Amino acid sequence: MKPLIIALALVLAAPLPAYAHPRTPRDLRQLAHQHGIKIGSAVDLAALRGEADYRKVLNREFSHVTAENAMKWESVEPERGVYTWADADALVENARRNNQRVRGHTLVWHNQLPAWLTTGVEDGSIDAAELRKILRDHITTQVRRYKGKIRAWDVVNEVVNDDGTMRQSIWLTHLGPGYIADAFRWAHRADPHAKLYINDYNLEWNASKIETTLSIVKDLQAQGAPIHGIGFQGHLGIQYDYPGDWANVMRRFADLGLEVAVTELDVRMELPVTPEKLATQADYYRRALTDCLGVRACREFTVWGFTDRHSWVPGWFPGQGAACLFDENLVPKPAYQALLGVKKA
Ligand code: XIL
Repeated sequence: MKPLIIALALVLAAPLPAYAHPRTPRDLRQLAHQHGIKIGSAVDLAALRGEADYRKVLNREFSHVTAENAMKWESVEPERGVYTWADADALVENARRNNQRVRGHTLVWHNQLPAWLTTGVEDGSIDAAELRKILRDHITTQVRRYKGKIRAWDVVNEVVNDDGTMRQSIWLTHLGPGYIADAFRWAHRADPHAKLYINDYNLEWNASKIETTLSIVKDLQAQGAPIHGIGFQGHLGIQYDYPGDWANVMRRFADLGLEVAVTELDVRMELPVTPEKLATQADYYRRALTDCLGVRACREFTVWGFTDRHSWVPGWFPGQGAACLFDENLVPKPAYQALLGVKKA
């Protein structure tokens, strides 16, 4: 009897032969594995700490994580020289324990800067030379702290306007356009193995933004600055057409030698939720994953929060919501099932 049971167990445990068609995966982790990419989510640190069900789904489903807010400048250095790493550290530690890779988000941005910095620049107590030193120290300190633990950094975030001009942030106005190359160089020096990204929204479809971003990348490459990836945030809404040219846009960046990632995908809708809207949303998620899988350089597919219980959408887009793969009770929505059904091209 015993050998029979052992034999049976062996047969059941054996991997599928290579010619067998892969089964529908049981979760996003398995789906990601089948497709040879990582599927990630932004993480709300308060929820990770306080909600066991949130933690369970995050760690079961996702093989990549991004801190939704915990690595932003105002979070890590709220007072000048006073660093608060507890949340960022907790994310990195949770990732290590659960075999998740990490995207660092974000080093240079115009939003969520600490007040000491913005006020100092405004009232002139921080001059350009000092600002440049502050930025270099910030990048060096943060990247060094997580050296070897961050797969990819969003080095610069949202540096181009929708009309294709450069954003007039404190960085551009006080440091000049060279701050971008500097940021990449400083980050690279602090962790030579991390993939360094430029990240933006509306880059899925906005021609002006696409052209400017392509020329920024070429310019950085011409200067020998270490840029390795392009991040498409992918904040979509079903009231707009799906960005049907997205895969081609990804390819244009891949042709410059860049790795590609979808870094912040969500698909919002005008409330109330209806079954029809959920079906359209499912289709947008399915198409986004299909676009990524159709481009060899697309290595990571990250959603900006996985549950409607914790999503930035209702707070930022009044009247809209329900943008995530799981509902408030962590029940998978049609969009989740749609992702599981995406087959290799
Ligand atoms: C958002 C967070 O989700 C919110 O919690 C926060 O209040 C504001 O920022 N693009 C980005 C992200 O790069 O950092 C933003 O995250 C969403 C848009």
